[in-house]
Amino acid sequence: MCGIIGYIGSKDAVPILAQGLKNLEYRGYDSAGIVTIYKGKLATAKCKGRIADLKSLLKKKVLRGNVGLGHTRWATHGVPSVVNAHPHLDCSGKISVVHNGIIENFQDLKENLKKQGCKIKSQTDTEVAAHLISKLYKGNLEAAVRGAVKKIKGSFALGVISSDEPGKIVAARRDSPLVVGLGSGENFIASDVAAILNYTKQVIYLEDNQMAVITKDSVNMLDMRGNKVNKDINTISYRQEDVQKRGFSHFMAKEIHEQPQVLSRIISCCVSRQNTIRFKDFNLDSSFLKKVENIIIIACGTAYHAGLVGKYIMESFLRIPTSVDYGSEFRYRKPVIRKNSLVIAISQSGETADTLAGVREAKKSKVRVLSICNVLGSSLTRESDSVIYTHAGPEISVASTKAYTAQIMTLYFLGLYLANLRNSLSKSYINGAIASLKKVPTKQREILQNSSAIKAIAKKHLHFGAFLYLGRNINFPTALEGALKLKEISYIPAEGYAAGEMKHGPIALIDEYRAVVCIANNSFVFDKMVSNIQETLARKGKIIAIATQGNKQLREYLKEIIFIPPIEEEFSPLLTIIPLQLLAYYIAVLKGYDVDKPRNLAKSVTVE
Ligand code: M6R
Repeated sequence: MCGIIGYIGSKDAVPILAQGLKNLEYRGYDSAGIVTIYKGKLATAKCKGRIADLKSLLKKKVLRGNVGLGHTRWATHGVPSVVNAHPHLDCSGKISVVHNGIIENFQDLKENLKKQGCKIKSQTDTEVAAHLISKLYKGNLEAAVRGAVKKIKGSFALGVISSDEPGKIVAARRDSPLVVGLGSGENFIASDVAAILNYTKQVIYLEDNQMAVITKDSVNMLDMRGNKVNKDINTISYRQEDVQKRGFSHFMAKEIHEQPQVLSRIISCCVSRQNTIRFKDFNLDSSFLKKVENIIIIACGTAYHAGLVGKYIMESFLRIPTSVDYGSEFRYRKPVIRKNSLVIAISQSGETADTLAGVREAKKSKVRVLSICNVLGSSLTRESDSVIYTHAGPEISVASTKAYTAQIMTLYFLGLYLANLRNSLSKSYINGAIASLKKVPTKQREILQNSSAIKAIAKKHLHFGAFLYLGRNINFPTALEGALKLKEISYIPAEGYAAGEMKHGPIALIDEYRAVVCIANNSFVFDKMVSNIQETLARKGKIIAIATQGNKQLREYLKEIIFIPPIEEEFSPLLTIIPLQLLAYYIAVLKGYDVDKPRNLAKSVTVE
């Protein structure tokens, strides 16, 4: 989604803003722009396309100044174009605005502003904010922004500058992330810390309905009435190199290969020397956790698939009903939420609008919310009663990979922790499970070492027009996730199905043009998968199987098999997904697509 950076200090603003926008590229965008203040005037450079295009433009159109804003736009209202790109200006050309989010009442505001003589140039919702602030401006930018946001319905992270007050940037937030970065003799605003990591690690997160007024030497945090608020300064723990490719061709490849390291990190955080499970800063009390009668998991996309694995884990470990909902459905379907429910919200970014809305819906019933999240200080973590961080490090590729296995690993530990508390599993089972989970990173490494064989399979199958992914039991979500990975980066139609559902419809699709990925690892449902494989072969479907090393049976009738090390069925999703991530990655690369920035997608979906 859109990205914001703002700089105020003594240095030349443009290289800093351009670097910040480059760091935000992964979020997905279609146009970009920069505004600076120089000698009492605003100057803008905007273009359709990539940051590289903006940089070329900036060579021809040189912008100077020590204060400015930059923006990457992911089109919502109006096509990607120069006129629709941010920053937007008011009619006088003295006020400039960058905005993430959606101004829902922009049509009404626009009509009103037009009646007052404003000339609106773009099709965006954002431009009205610039005119609105301008109409309310009486010599105090922060008062004008405060007045404007009172009239705005919807979500926003706003960065505003005015040539009449060149020494400040005003920022405001509602339902769209924004941070202030603290420097020495310079300060920043950004929608994502990645934008400013080259310059500072000290940040203050704005909460909803908060504003910041920054100058080169000061930062004032305010509520929407203009009262000062005290805020903690957070230190970002990851480094700039964590958001670089480190020798891999794409972030997605790097992140797929990071999974063993991420899971080892989770193991060392969650398992003590005495082999007990613990979570840092976990503050849901045991008496409540013992009383929980059902679990409701809310998530979107890949995190939703991790949630589906979570349902299998919780129901088998705890024997309590667990439901999994898309945030976008949960928020509107009038869910039944019983008193002793535990809501678990899963999100890599912690900023997904639908997941947050689902959590807010749940909180109306006064239930407790535990989030499983990767981003420190994100909106979800602040709105939850307790958080377990997934420790996956920054995930840059739009296609989520390491966050998925990190979420699942965390769900295993949570399930075991609750099972121990509630005595629903024996101590020996829990110890055995911990031992098995500790072996997963090594087993993942083994699969990753076999990447070239997966690449060869990708090469043979990239011309198939459609893929079907079949899995059973705890690997049904793996089938869904495998299909999602393929479709989002290779644009090949791909469907995930519970293999038992084949005969109820999808079998009609099978012919020699259909590639069918079958997850057939050793398990109590293996024979059932074999039946699905036979049915597919009988209809000339081309099968790629994921099977357990040592399986000779499948060799008799299948050519394309990707082997994984032996693992108990209940922990197998941590392995079976790895070949599917690699398969999707190689198919997209071989088709020549930009895997890290797939078309139409954004890393963090902060609007509904
Ligand atoms: O940040 P979140 O985990 O809340 O994001 C949820 C989805 O938007 C995300 O998983 C999306 O589906 C990815 N593109 C999947 O690869």
